[in-house]
Amino acid sequence: MLRRSFSCKGIPFSAEIYDLETIDFVGNRFQVLDDDIFSVTYPKSGSNWMQEILTLIWQQGDPSWSLSVPIWERIPWLDLSENMEKLKAAKPPRLISSHLPIQLFPKSFWGSKAKVIYTVRNPKDLLVSLYHFSKLMSFLQEPESLEELLGAFLQGEVLFGSWFDHVKGWLGLRGRENFFCISYEELQEDLRGSVERICHFLGKDLSDAALASVVQNASFQAMRDNPMANFSLMPDNILDKSKGSFLRKGVVGDWKNHFTVAQSERFGRAYRERMQDLAGTFPWDE
Ligand code: A3P
Repeated sequence: MLRRSFSCKGIPFSAEIYDLETIDFVGNRFQVLDDDIFSVTYPKSGSNWMQEILTLIWQQGDPSWSLSVPIWERIPWLDLSENMEKLKAAKPPRLISSHLPIQLFPKSFWGSKAKVIYTVRNPKDLLVSLYHFSKLMSFLQEPESLEELLGAFLQGEVLFGSWFDHVKGWLGLRGRENFFCISYEELQEDLRGSVERICHFLGKDLSDAALASVVQNASFQAMRDNPMANFSLMPDNILDKSKGSFLRKGVVGDWKNHFTVAQSERFGRAYRERMQDLAGTFPWDE
């Protein structure tokens, strides 16, 4: 839920950090290059985790870059106006992040060889993460309860719109050579194996020591201790650190500590109805 918002093709954006002109520019005129690598996520799916992993892979496991440059500069957000000039000037190959749903993604992506890594997460855990995140971030309206946020989430009345549409839109690219989908749960289950699969997709060959370093430096604890990844550099008027940490718990299944049985059933009904085409695709599907 957003304090000040605008909508682009029905997708709600926070007017405090995004602007329509940039979203329009990105969709219609941003020039994607063949060797661009995009990390795409719906918010709270593990975006920063994937960003950390990718920037470590990029450096063959050497953590110097991760330990000296803020994460949002290493792999800038496509969706923000302040990054447009930076991205245009960046030397290829570029690492780029985005939360955009597929219909707002740059038109020039189509027909390019640019690669997309799409990270998904169990929407119940994502919702709990968003609930806590809403307390920290100035541009989000703190919901009165999880129940209130759950209603807004199921209606798609949250930042970047409907999770269901976002996931179904992007998963439509499955089977393409330049698209790779991985879940937060797979990263948790086997981080090293996941990093190896990402490297394979990117055509990167990392030594055992380099892989071990990616795994170590992208761990929850390492990221929590790294000021370049833990958002401690973010000003208090944007992220109120007195109310909690950006890297909050970093676990699978926290929804069980937050959802009532009725909420879980309500969510389950909506999920089954909206996701029937993708039934059984994700690790959290029964
Ligand atoms: P929780 O709030 O459940 O802890 P995003 O980067 O898309 O905003 O997602 C944030 C979520 O990813 C948070 O979830 C955060 O703790 C989790 N996260 C970030 N880095 C992580 C890591 N290295 N290992 C596990 N979870 C991580």
